Amino acid sequence: MLDGKIALITGAARGQGRSHAVRLAQEGADIIAVDALVTPPWMTYRQADPDDFAETVRLVEKEGRRIVAKRADVRDFDALDAAVAQGVAQLGGLDIVCANAGIFPPGCLTWEIDPAQWRDVIDVNLTGVFHTVKAAVPHLLERGPGGSIVLTSSGAALISGSHFADYSAAKAALLSLTRTLAYELAPHSIRCNVICPTSVDTAMIHNDNLYRMLRPDLAEPGREDIKAAFQAKNLLPIPWVEPVDISNAIVWLASDQARYITGVTLPVDAGNTLKC
Ligand SMILES: NC(=O)c1ccc[n+]([C@@H]2O[C@H](COP(=O)([O-])OP(=O)(O)OC[C@H]3O[C@@H](n4cnc5c(N)ncnc54)[C@H](O)[C@@H]3O)[C@@H](O)[C@H]2O)c1
Repeated sequence: MLDGKIALITGAARGQGRSHAVRLAQEGADIIAVDALVTPPWMTYRQADPDDFAETVRLVEKEGRRIVAKRADVRDFDALDAAVAQGVAQLGGLDIVCANAGIFPPGCLTWEIDPAQWRDVIDVNLTGVFHTVKAAVPHLLERGPGGSIVLTSSGAALISGSHFADYSAAKAALLSLTRTLAYELAPHSIRCNVICPTSVDTAMIHNDNLYRMLRPDLAEPGREDIKAAFQAKNLLPIPWVEPVDISNAIVWLASDQARYITGVTLPVDAGNTLKC
């Protein structure tokens, strides 16, 4: 479906980003993969490491596609811009952008959020997406007409709740950014859409901090102990979706099958939004 296309993916070292890299490669795309491999000091679960990133490279190459993997933090525009330019120079262009990199805060009441944490969450989850688009769009325009941008937001942008004001605010802003980009890029036949996953089976939810938040009654809660709490959020009888469920939606949005779809907010959420 994506033969000969070249896709940029941020946060590609593991989780959904790695899955997007593999699925897009399976459909015939070459990959520019970016990841920071850095864990902010206040975070309660670790971010990806070089071994994770090497595994993404291995899996894409196993599919017979080319991959350029660059270490860059989406908060650092100059580093990201250089990484994207190097990838484009090596692979020969850019057609698809997946602004996927994101971090999840520990969760506390809004007035108790540490300002440094607030800044980091907004910097990665919102400004980092702006940086990704800013670095990528000139290459899409050069290659065009055509191209597809998919931003990764969250169900947290669509439903209300407590304890994650920084995360929800950043993810909600991506819906507006998507619509603005859809307007600005439509004359070039470049589409921009945003995807809102429910809980996804990655390290972002499977970590001790979240387990303890959801099951304060247990001394050492594990994966099985939090299934019911996650399942209660979804309409369909599952606790979380798999990374590949998000990747499949991205493959479709990136392909010509979605050629007239732009400015759309697409929940991949097992009915989570409807239920809330
Ligand atoms: N897992 C979920 O339940 C869930 C639900 C809705 C939305 N999301 C969103 O999906 C996206 C992917 O998350 P995931 O579930 O794969 O989590 P993950 O933690 O497994 O992956 C996130 C990746 O982003 C990278 N990253 C973090 N900060 C970065 C930075 N500053 N610059 C570049 N890379 C950076 C990490 O190293 C990691 O490889 C995120 O935007 C997240 O907010 C996740």
